[in-house]
Amino acid sequence: MTSAPTPPVPDSDLLAHLRVDLHAAGFTVDGVEERLGTVAARALRRDHALPAARALAGDDPLAVIVRLFCLNHAIDTDVVERALPTVGVAGLVGLGLVAAEGAAVRATCDLRPHACDSAGWWLASDLPESAVGGPLPQDHVLGIGGASTTLATWTPRLPVARALDVGTGCGVQSLHLSQHAEHVVATDLSARALGYAAFNAALNGTSWELRAGSMLEPVAGETFDLIVSNPPFVITPRAAGVPLYEYRDGGRSGDAVVADLVRRVGAHLAPGGIAQLLGNWEIVGDDEDAWRTKVASWVEGTGLDAWVVQRETQDPAEYAETWVRDGGQQPGTRAHEQLYGAWLDDFASRGVSAIGFGIITVQRPDRERATFVDLVEVTGPVAQPMGPAVLAGLRARTWLAERTDDEVLDTAWRCADDVTEERHSRPGDTDPSVIVIRQGGGLRRAIRVDTLGAALLSVCDGELTARQAIVAIAGLLDLDASVGLADGVTLVRDLAADGLLLAN
Ligand SMILES: C[S@@+](CC[C@H](N)C(=O)[O-])C[C@H]1O[C@@H](n2cnc3c(N)ncnc32)[C@H](O)[C@@H]1O
Repeated sequence: MTSAPTPPVPDSDLLAHLRVDLHAAGFTVDGVEERLGTVAARALRRDHALPAARALAGDDPLAVIVRLFCLNHAIDTDVVERALPTVGVAGLVGLGLVAAEGAAVRATCDLRPHACDSAGWWLASDLPESAVGGPLPQDHVLGIGGASTTLATWTPRLPVARALDVGTGCGVQSLHLSQHAEHVVATDLSARALGYAAFNAALNGTSWELRAGSMLEPVAGETFDLIVSNPPFVITPRAAGVPLYEYRDGGRSGDAVVADLVRRVGAHLAPGGIAQLLGNWEIVGDDEDAWRTKVASWVEGTGLDAWVVQRETQDPAEYAETWVRDGGQQPGTRAHEQLYGAWLDDFASRGVSAIGFGIITVQRPDRERATFVDLVEVTGPVAQPMGPAVLAGLRARTWLAERTDDEVLDTAWRCADDVTEERHSRPGDTDPSVIVIRQGGGLRRAIRVDTLGAALLSVCDGELTARQAIVAIAGLLDLDASVGLADGVTLVRDLAADGLLLAN
């Protein structure tokens, strides 16, 4: 496997010229989507270039830029010169973004627009598999992938003084952090990744402190208000012949990279600081709670609050197929089968029955109190973006951790506007046999409640305290009030944690 080319050069004068041309051409997420059409734009995001190539007739600047930088076509020099007249071909060569190929030029890397609600950027990264045409180089620097987007959309976007991006890659998380952090430190083990991060920061008119080194080593003794990491979490056999892809493999056995990150990240969180991490974890045995036991053990003794959402699981074979294929190996080839076998042997050696993927949010309490550890499984769709719900959920869990059950019961609660109720009954029955409370936003929870729970929610208008409401309802239902209060406070805590009930 060959090494990928040198990352582009962050020459500020040439980048200023490039920005003029990219702006003028409308090289934005919306501009490209409109030019390609939804189907071709979505295919391109899945690294399938053919529909986009078919959609791009003509030599208008946007078509040329997309063909050059997103489809990796060789394009005649004079066509490129007309499409990017300010930076020009000489400027693109000077930036290291294109190389001559006869009378044409071809991009040396991928460059595409990226956006969130409030900002738009451009991001350079290594050429994707479709352009490389075979297994990726081991020092490949990833563009924006599904995991990058997941982390970006789950990160709470609160204003902070100091933020850290561990394993920055091409710098996508740092671009988002630049929107709400005064100072961003970004680390990576890969010199090539840091090269791309420096280029992307300059291209987008921002700057980060870039530091080389493994995981948290480059920030020894420092603390941050917000830490994000889409770490190299892919579980890879440590066996001869299995390539180590820097962009996904931290070089440790099993899930040790993520376990270590969770155990150590607290030392780098300022009081009240939050770390938002992605991870894979190995699940051993068939016990439904095995993943909880595993992930809780990482948090144990750290003094941190933790809220972990398991989003999906794969069995060992599915997991092996995903990551052998991700490296560019085609099923049915000898290389594919050897790697597939190595993954299966590795999982078997530790008795792994499944691999979980999820989002780990930890927080350093800003005062002495009992910590919370909440581990939930949510495999369905959730709000987009989730960041606001994560922040609200942390705030709510913190509030609950600081209060006794009596204080929770003596609070007046209001049912959130996105909560609805479903009643299901057998045909002909007057009373429902199932009552489900549904949340429209956040984790989109669906919770089955009993008559007392449904009645309690129906009177949560911010006037009555939970205690007053439960005692009154217990009287009407002829229930023991103390039992109602014990059940009621558990329900209120559960609903309040995820924002279905709001303290007035
Ligand atoms: C999955 S990529 C994430 C890139 C980017 N932050 C994102 O969200 O798309 C993981 C990154 O971690 C880096 N990495 C791998 N091993 C590392 C280590 N031991 N310490 C720090 N970074 C590492 C890789 O070079 C890669 O850039």
